[in-house]
Amino acid sequence: MKKTLLITGGAGFIGSHVVRRFITRYPDYLIVNLDALTYAGNLENLRDVAGAPNYRFEKGDIRDQAFLKALFEKYAFEGVIHLAAESHVDRSISNPVAFVETNVMGTVNLLHAAAQAWKGQSEDKRFYHVSTDEVYGSLGEEGFFTETTPYDPRSPYSASKASSDHFVRAWHHTYDLPVVLSNCSNNYGPYHFPEKLIPLMIHNIRQQKALPVYGDGKYTRDWLWVEDHASAIDLIFHKGRNGETYNIGGNNEWKNIDLVEKLCDIMDELLGRTPGASRQLITFVKDRPGHDRRYAIDASKLRDELGWTPSINFDEGFRRTAQWYLDNTEWLEHVASGAYQQYYAEQYENNDER
Ligand code: NAD
Ligand code: TYD
Repeated sequence: MKKTLLITGGAGFIGSHVVRRFITRYPDYLIVNLDALTYAGNLENLRDVAGAPNYRFEKGDIRDQAFLKALFEKYAFEGVIHLAAESHVDRSISNPVAFVETNVMGTVNLLHAAAQAWKGQSEDKRFYHVSTDEVYGSLGEEGFFTETTPYDPRSPYSASKASSDHFVRAWHHTYDLPVVLSNCSNNYGPYHFPEKLIPLMIHNIRQQKALPVYGDGKYTRDWLWVEDHASAIDLIFHKGRNGETYNIGGNNEWKNIDLVEKLCDIMDELLGRTPGASRQLITFVKDRPGHDRRYAIDASKLRDELGWTPSINFDEGFRRTAQWYLDNTEWLEHVASGAYQQYYAEQYENNDER
């Protein structure tokens, strides 16, 4: 194997796309996926690649320093791509401490483990921290987040991610840890846990349930096809400059209500329902506290330096996503029923090979 890489959070939404991409594009890398399998971790997301010879799964928690130390000793990683996190804003409002423990302390533990393991021999190593545009706060009608926009997080989730970004830069400056960071806009696509806007709406439209739109529905997000995020991570991991940060975005802004209406129309078409039927399900509900009004990314640094652009437009991405959920009802039902949490026990427990 040419390189051994640690990917954290690989059983989650974005992590599973990154793991799949690295397993298939780099057969000479050994990819170790470390995931605690919280409610958001689902090994069914990786069913198609789990048997690959260059893949290992390690169940473990980034809050556990001793476990991380032993893992670095076991594998002698040459790179880390860190995605493990608590990721849902609404959950951060009801349970903020868990976000500090995993997103802040977990990241610090991982930085510490990498810096200790790579002490004095870090030239060819790389620690990649995957972060979010939410650290920059909220925009008005105009403007975009750039890499130099001051941090202004407003939810416990974004504050914990902002804090983790600061620690990554601190380890770079203080301990010479070779790092690279990216801050990405909202992702969408297959394997997205149905507590987030797009899969929740698809799930509810399918079941003809109410579609809860927060507040006035005019909150704006910049949506990126998840595989385009994975391609940007691949490029930045290999070609990004040491110590730099890159913003990643889809140049694809939608007000929530417009997006939900569009999804209703696509789903009506795909399900053969009367045009306009699903829009009847839209229900305006109580707003999220501290709800950020608008996010929009200026990704020109990544485009100009590394030549990255999104590969598909939203219309195509939206249709692919809706179709994927219709074709993968078993995945969705396992998530809804909790059955996906059995998968680890069936596949990995009592199996010393893994
Ligand atoms: P997700 O919630 O789908 O997946 C997170 C994964 O991390 C899960 O598999 C979970 O089991 C694992 N995990 C959680 N706590 C852990 C712990 N203590 N130890 C080990 N593993 C743990 O999240 P996602 O949407 O795939 O996001 C992945 C990363 O990308 C996060 O760091 C998030 O902040 C960032 N990000 C997400 C988006 C987005 O739109 N979803 C956008 C930009 C950045
Ligand atoms: P979400 O998918 O939670 O991502 P984030 O808050 O990290 O951007 O929400 C996207 C937008 O959709 C956000 O403005 C909140 C809104 N939203 C709803 O209107 N209804 C919902 O049921 C959910 C989950 C989100």
